[in-house]
Amino acid sequence: HFNAVILAGGSGTRLWPLSTPSFPKQFLPLPNGNSMIQETLARVAPLTTPEQSWVVTGQHMAGLVLEHLPTVPVEHLLLEPMGRNSAPAIAWAAATIARKDPEGVMAIFSADHMITEVETFRRTLQLAYELAEQGYLVTIGIQPTTPETGYGYIRFADEVDEGHGHKAFLAERFVEKPNLATAQSYLADGHYVWNAGIFIWKVEAILNEFREHLPDVAQKVQSIVDAMETQDASAVLNAIWPTIQSISIDYGILEKTSNLVVIPANLGWNDVGNWDQYGSLFPGDALGIRSVGSHTGLGSQNIVVYNNTQRQVYTIGLEDVIVVEMDDMTLVCHKEHVQRVKELAEQQKKQL
Ligand code: GDD
Ligand code: MG
Repeated sequence: HFNAVILAGGSGTRLWPLSTPSFPKQFLPLPNGNSMIQETLARVAPLTTPEQSWVVTGQHMAGLVLEHLPTVPVEHLLLEPMGRNSAPAIAWAAATIARKDPEGVMAIFSADHMITEVETFRRTLQLAYELAEQGYLVTIGIQPTTPETGYGYIRFADEVDEGHGHKAFLAERFVEKPNLATAQSYLADGHYVWNAGIFIWKVEAILNEFREHLPDVAQKVQSIVDAMETQDASAVLNAIWPTIQSISIDYGILEKTSNLVVIPANLGWNDVGNWDQYGSLFPGDALGIRSVGSHTGLGSQNIVVYNNTQRQVYTIGLEDVIVVEMDDMTLVCHKEHVQRVKELAEQQKKQL
């Protein structure tokens, strides 16, 4: 069994206006009625225990997390005063777990990923666990299909191990968010996989990497953890956390370490990063029309209509368009521009 750490720090800008900073996408319902954060824990429940489940999230999200994940002990919610990106969040979890279970292995999951091949995923994690026990930092790799610039790319070299139907390779290189031309060259190269954003390692191994590559983060997080069960816990947290460098685990550690291995796996993985991807989770008809809520359409194709209201939505002759109807706002967006939803969301947040 490993310690399962769920990162739920998303600010909810890419699925705006359905997802917002106070109700980000990991809490949105999926077609089966569960939220993404519930599915995240359910997928790995057989490999961990409630006493080994942790969530790192913003202070304002505590209520929602407890409501969605009632089995996670309340003291296992690590509540950040503000987002400092994934590296500090992971360092905090690692240093906290190290106090109880210094020899333990931690597996880190994003609260907002979809994985359809759950059995394959669990087998992948079993091999990952065995490699983590040997001291490796383990990542999961996804076969890239497009030169996506929002992901990390891992070039894999020699095989280090195999088991549970999978092979693990030394990661020769990790490049976070390459530009388009670089991403295209990686696809052509054929030896690159996407970083799925799922990591398995010994807490001690990752803490050593922090001490080496992000010593200031390591030291500040340690001060917070040392104060955790004292009367000063929240004062120390509130004083130190805002001064911690905001940096992702990808730029801060994974691009720098020489200890990384990758297990390529076919997981039906989707990081639900935009409206097109979220829409694709819902069943569509032969013309690719996916509707949630009331919608009547004529002559449209390849559209998503997400109607979160009691009103009726009518569309005619649309192609490659997303329509999101909310009580107080409507978003209409061409699928080519789904990445720009984030810009509007941020602009709107500033106006409030
Ligand atoms: N608690 C907490 N606090 N979690 C955070 C914070 C934070 O400040 N910042 C980010 N996270 C969580 C997010 O909620 C998400 O689960 C995960 O860390 C990754 O952050 P994203 O902001 O979604 O990163 P990304 O999508 O740009 O890139 C990462 O994921 C890709 C796959 O989805 C990288 O790891 C890429 O290399 C990877 O390909
Ligand atoms: Mg992401």
